[in-house]
Formats: sequence, structure tokens, C-alpha cells
Amino acid sequence: MRKLQPPAESFLIRTMTPEDMPEVMEIERIAFTNPWSPELLRRELTHDWSTILLAEEELAPGVRRLLGFAIFWVVHDELHILNVAVDPRHRRRGVARAVMHATLARGREPKCTMATLEVRRSNEAALALYRGLDFRAVGVRPNYYVDEGEDAIVMILDL
Ligand SMILES: CC(C)(COP(=O)(O)OP(=O)(O)OC[C@H]1O[C@@H](n2cnc3c(N)ncnc32)[C@H](O)[C@@H]1OP(=O)(O)O)[C@@H](O)C(=O)NCCC(=O)NCCS
Repeated sequence: MRKLQPPAESFLIRTMTPEDMPEVMEIERIAFTNPWSPELLRRELTHDWSTILLAEEELAPGVRRLLGFAIFWVVHDELHILNVAVDPRHRRRGVARAVMHATLARGREPKCTMATLEVRRSNEAALALYRGLDFRAVGVRPNYYVDEGEDAIVMILDL
């Protein structure tokens, strides 16, 4: 008999508020070598075109744990993903895939026709994540990441 795949975990997705800053910053700091500053993150919360979606799980009634987040902009008909990060203790559970699905759904709502992002050439985990969501590489921005002079791969997805 064919072995059935275990069902994918479901996570709670909601929009970030200023009260979530400490937990989001904690993940941002461990996930990236050059993390965004709290000021930059706080500024995103004030822009109409910017959204930060959180993925959480419920540990007990009313008790939630933050697992990861995605930051995106909707500008005209384009959904631009700026940042996706997951707590290292909770990786490979489908958290990034879930928050990306929710992000893409948000983009389809106001009729975006395309999703775009940049990713470091060496970031195999993120490249695999995006390819799995059907993003395709369409170009390279040489030395895009000034810290190490690393190239960015530009990826797009038709929505
Ligand atoms: C990239 C990142 C967001 C993935 O988060 P995650 O929750 O572990 O990813 P998921 O569990 O949803 O994985 C979805 C798919 O992505 C791919 N993937 C994720 N991590 C991977 C890894 N370490 N190696 C190879 N493929 C990986 C796989 O195809 C995976 O599907 P599978 O588990 O069924 O094989 C996470 O590793 C992270 O926060 N990295 C640091 C921050 C970062 O680089 N963000 C991206 C900036 S562009």
C-alpha cells in the first residue's frame, strides 16, 4: 500500500503590529548577517504599501509563538518581496512556504500581475524555497549586496 504523506502543518497568519517588534527583531537578528534595524522595520509599519505577515503557532489557548515572517510591498500591479525569515529552531517545517503562500494570496487580491524578489546567489535554501513556489530566475544584479559584493538573482512569478 502507498505510504500517505503526513498532512502539512497549518500556521496562524496575521499582520504585524508595533507590539510584535521585539519578537520580529529577534528572528531578524539571528536570520541575517546584516539585519534590518528596528527603525527600518518600524518605518515599514507606517507605509500603506508595505505589509509584514507573521506566521505563528498556538501553544495553548491564547498563547502564540512567532515562527517567521515575510515583508512585502504592493506597488501598482507588482508584489515585491523584501524579506522572509524563519526562526532557526523551526526551519523545514513549512513555515516559509506557508507565509509565502499567504503573501502571494495578498498580492492576488489587489490584482497584482507579478511577484518579484532578489536573493543572494549563495542562498540555496531560499532559492529552493522560491523555485518550489514556481518563481523563475530572470536576471542577475552584480554586486547587489554591498557587504560581501555578492550578486543578487532576480526572480519573478506571474500571479
Ligand atoms: C530560507 C528560509 C526562509 C526557509 O524557511 P523554512 O521555514 O525553513 O522553509 P520551509 O520549511 O517552508 O521550506 C520550503 C521549501 O524550501 C526549500 N528549503 C528550505 N530550506 C532549505 C534548505 N536548508 N536547503 C534546501 N532547501 C530548502 C525546500 O524545497 C523546502 O521544501 P521541503 O522541506 O518540502 O523540501 C530560512 O532558511 C531562513 O530564514 N533563512 C535565513 C533568512 C533568509 O535567507 N531569507 C531569505 C532571504 S531572500
